[in-house]
Amino acid sequence: MPLLIKNANEIVTMQSSVNGPRTGKAMSELSIIKNGSILVEDDCIIAIGPLAEIQQQFAEQVAQADIVDATGKVVMPGLVDCHTHLVHGGTREHELNMRLSGATYMEIMNAGGGIHYTTTKTREASFDELYEKTVKILNQFLTYGVTTIEAKSGYGLDWETEKKQLEVVKKLQETHEIDLVSTFMGAHAVPSEYKGREDDFVDVVINEMLPKVAELGLAEFNDVFCEKGVFTPEQSRKILLAGKEYGLTPKIHADEIEPYEGAELAAELGAISAEHLLVASDEGIEAMAKAGTIAVLLPGTAFFLRAPFARGRLMIDRGVPVAISTDFNPGSSPTISLPFIQNLACMNMGMTMEEVLVATTINAAYAINRGEKVGSLEVGKKADILLLNVPNYKQLQYFYGMNHTDTVIKAGEVVVKEGVFIR
Ligand code: NIG
Ligand code: FE
Repeated sequence: MPLLIKNANEIVTMQSSVNGPRTGKAMSELSIIKNGSILVEDDCIIAIGPLAEIQQQFAEQVAQADIVDATGKVVMPGLVDCHTHLVHGGTREHELNMRLSGATYMEIMNAGGGIHYTTTKTREASFDELYEKTVKILNQFLTYGVTTIEAKSGYGLDWETEKKQLEVVKKLQETHEIDLVSTFMGAHAVPSEYKGREDDFVDVVINEMLPKVAELGLAEFNDVFCEKGVFTPEQSRKILLAGKEYGLTPKIHADEIEPYEGAELAAELGAISAEHLLVASDEGIEAMAKAGTIAVLLPGTAFFLRAPFARGRLMIDRGVPVAISTDFNPGSSPTISLPFIQNLACMNMGMTMEEVLVATTINAAYAINRGEKVGSLEVGKKADILLLNVPNYKQLQYFYGMNHTDTVIKAGEVVVKEGVFIR
């Protein structure tokens, strides 16, 4: 049955004359249609514009269509969360008071907490436990308007558990409404059993894990935590180049806590994105602009770690394509609210109300190689569409810290109605 979304106050289409990730002024192009309608057939958008025109061109489909009334609402593309550590065991609320009393993220990790704690919990959890837990999280993501999510492994740090995490994602790709994109991150930390033998663990990632990830087709991307005390730029380069040999596209956790030339490395390797970049250098930003590396900025992490925010404004002004994401994980950003992350990006990184919408839709889609399919409302693209309970898009950042999602249409089907997930 076709679906007709009728009479939206504003359709924020994200269409642009620019192809590919948006940079500079193109990051402000929302291409809004007032009083517009959208016709969907199967899982695709087949028409978008004034209702009268659609009726004329597609009379038959319009006559049969289910109607979704968008009067008074904003309609926009489903949000894309392009950086999460989705599948993991346990939670880490006990670390919050430690950090509020002055302990740093790295101190907690070096004392065996942090990523190591979550690794233990993830190793202990069964496949079914991880799967059931993640289904609930994804259902919640959907009610916040998120329709595509990237998911990183990296809480196994041994092959058995890395594989378990990646296979949970694989099963969810088949069963859940949200589209999932898989990233292998075996190099998320050096597991405690390899303490003092860091290079041996790098060899395990390269010679034992990467070939199996590729053979089993468990990931599209390969990510490394390039950070002082975790993996050096040299080790990161080795791991990312090895991944390339197996057809995995490099991503990199770069310059999150201390400047470490991670942005420079991402540009050098032709990584699709460098992520975090809280303390990226001027030279690194320049190199990314030249190479077209997408900056995936994660203001929730700066907020929750009480760290300086990434220089989003400067990056956009220098020509770097910017995406923003939750970084959903149990340690540095335990939130699924991408709308709140948009608010943070406006208030703390100097990004405009328009730029944060581009950064969480089309640019986020390009950061996970989905820009041709989702991230904007255009004929031929997947019908991942939100109806928001606001009369204009500016209220999304103005009424902050709220979830304005009313209806979510995923691949042409209504899956959230009046804010409630309906299966
Ligand atoms: O992106 N920096 C490394 N990884 C995550 C945090 C993981 C954790 O603390 O569990 C991040 O911030
Ligand atoms: Fe992360």
